[in-house]
Amino acid sequence: MKVAIIGISGKLGQYMTEHCLNRGYEVTGVCRPESVGKLARFGDRITVFPARTDDEAAVAQAVAGADAVLTVLAPWGVEDYASGTARAVLTHARPGARLIFSCGWHISRDGRDRYGWRMRAFVALFGFLGRLTRFADVSDQVRATDMIFASDTDWTVVRGSGLEEGPSEGLPLWARHVGDPILAANLTRRIDFALFMVATITDPTLIREAPAIVSRASQPVGTLPGLR
Ligand SMILES: NC(=O)c1ccc[n+]([C@@H]2O[C@H](COP(=O)([O-])OP(=O)(O)OC[C@H]3O[C@@H](n4cnc5c(N)ncnc54)[C@H](OP(=O)(O)O)[C@@H]3O)[C@@H](O)[C@H]2O)c1
Repeated sequence: MKVAIIGISGKLGQYMTEHCLNRGYEVTGVCRPESVGKLARFGDRITVFPARTDDEAAVAQAVAGADAVLTVLAPWGVEDYASGTARAVLTHARPGARLIFSCGWHISRDGRDRYGWRMRAFVALFGFLGRLTRFADVSDQVRATDMIFASDTDWTVVRGSGLEEGPSEGLPLWARHVGDPILAANLTRRIDFALFMVATITDPTLIREAPAIVSRASQPVGTLPGLR
């Protein structure tokens, strides 16, 4: 199995790399040139193409022959970084490759997610201040995922809850819509977000789904549902 990780040097990217190498997968990746050093511990076990993740040529090289592409969609800057990254992956991945993208709960595929006031306020404030300071553009992540939802590829958009560091608690649970009671804790270990991304490669039931995930350990003992 060959897996390309677009945005490999971030926290999520590095965890995904560890999970992939533990499974014996061949790993390639793209990250900004100034971030290559963060991957030193992986040595020659991975192949890195240094470039911005919306660089079409670098993405084309990294995804060549890949069975799966794991893409970190980040809203940084105001130059369509997330949608440029999604476009590069959708354009250059081989037909039939599993394409798995990360984002947050704020992305809604069908408008049927139910958000609490805290999350609505946070997204509105982050969106406003991000645009004002030209630091981030949340609407670009929305454009990126709209492009993915409309594509006829084998995509999955994994929507992360609030994240924390710490040892693995196991594969997160998921629901189709934010507002589902199983998501109430709104917390997942970042290492397990990465685990879910990697496990999705071999889970055909998640093709063209946008699972909102949450920590398995957040459920009351004895109530673990197979709920979707
Ligand atoms: N943080 C949260 O609470 C949270 C919650 C829910 C979902 N998520 C989702 O989880 C995913 C990973 O997020 P994360 O918070 O864990 O971050 P992360 O993985 O540490 O970094 C995300 C990516 O952004 C890149 N990046 C950082 N600053 C940048 C800049 N100024 N210009 C261009 N690229 C830049 C990083 O590359 P470098 O290594 O080059 O810096 C990395 O590839 C994202 O898809 C995010 O939407 C996050």
